Amino acid sequence: MKISFLDLKKQINGFDKKIFNSIKKNIINSAFVGGKDLIDFQKKFSKYLNVKFCLGVANGTDALEIAIRSLSLKKNSEVIVPANTWISTAEAVINNNLNVKFVDIDETHNICIKDLKKKISKKTSAIIIVHLFGNPANINQIKKLSKNKSIKLIEDCAQSHGSEYNKKKTGTFGDISTFSFFPSKNLGCFGDGGCIVTNKKSLFLKAKKIANHGGLKKNNHLIVGRNSRLDNIQAGILNIKLNYLDKWINLREKQAKFYRYNLNGVGDIRFVKQIENSKSSNHLFVIKTSKRNELKEYLLRNGISTAIHYPSPLPELPVFRKKHKSYGIKMNATRWKNSIISLPIGEHMDTLKLKKVCLCIKSFFDA
Ligand SMILES: Cc1ncc(COP(=O)(O)O)c(C=O)c1O
Repeated sequence: MKISFLDLKKQINGFDKKIFNSIKKNIINSAFVGGKDLIDFQKKFSKYLNVKFCLGVANGTDALEIAIRSLSLKKNSEVIVPANTWISTAEAVINNNLNVKFVDIDETHNICIKDLKKKISKKTSAIIIVHLFGNPANINQIKKLSKNKSIKLIEDCAQSHGSEYNKKKTGTFGDISTFSFFPSKNLGCFGDGGCIVTNKKSLFLKAKKIANHGGLKKNNHLIVGRNSRLDNIQAGILNIKLNYLDKWINLREKQAKFYRYNLNGVGDIRFVKQIENSKSSNHLFVIKTSKRNELKEYLLRNGISTAIHYPSPLPELPVFRKKHKSYGIKMNATRWKNSIISLPIGEHMDTLKLKKVCLCIKSFFDA
């Protein structure tokens, strides 16, 4: 039995006809850009999160870039970004002509509060909180530290659709938040997609203007904007998939519990910590072991695919190395880069497969 890391075809088993019909409907109606499905999705996703405004855009990277620009941050200021995240989080800062300051991660693999205290300075204009792996970051502590300092908070929820902290969804705590609907995400479309959400009307309108060639009405361009749209076909797919998101998250929670129960105490395995009163969407299930490379190879030889998120912390990447490596080298994010491994999780997994992964890991450490 081969176990893939991901199998997106499996996710739509049982409702694939609904998806095909939605695509067909939009082709027949020539409803490609803008349209009812987009309007419905924006409303439906706002309601799901309990947030006032949602703007569909072309992908999660655009969402970050546009969200940052909408905040009109001070020229030459610094935006704090966790050292372990997907590159988009930092790219979006640079593409806004702002400076990145990397902050370390702790056992939650999210922003380390202790390091954040050291990194916040007069130059800080915003913090991007990434809920990595779907695991909510310590939002309360971050809010406390940024309070009264006019520091803006951006939540990068590309991996945390449906995650909660104190029974509130991630994406509803900051000034403005962003989502990716990349196909492999817990809520993914069949191509690229993303959105920006906020409770602030002024930010919503600014973001909308930026994403729509600088205007809110056709042929009335007020600023230099760009073109970033979530198309109607993708929105139609997301409308259908959103109905299943909570079911998928519950399934992932059960799978994560299975892993934690069965791998507890095996070899030197350590789990990612969750903060109290938080619910992870378990977008990724990551463990740490000093024998990561050997384990990865062993699992592959036994037909089990795994992944690494991410092989290099951002300060070590060639693009950032020159400026950031000196302080990045002392980080947990750097120490752990050779220990982290993501195990298969999601709708394509069943108990038999989970058991096989756990047995295989145990036999690796017993050998
Ligand atoms: C944390 C994080 N931020 C941003 C993005 C960017 O999203 P997209 O690929 O839709 O541009 C991703 C995508 O993987 C991500 O994981």
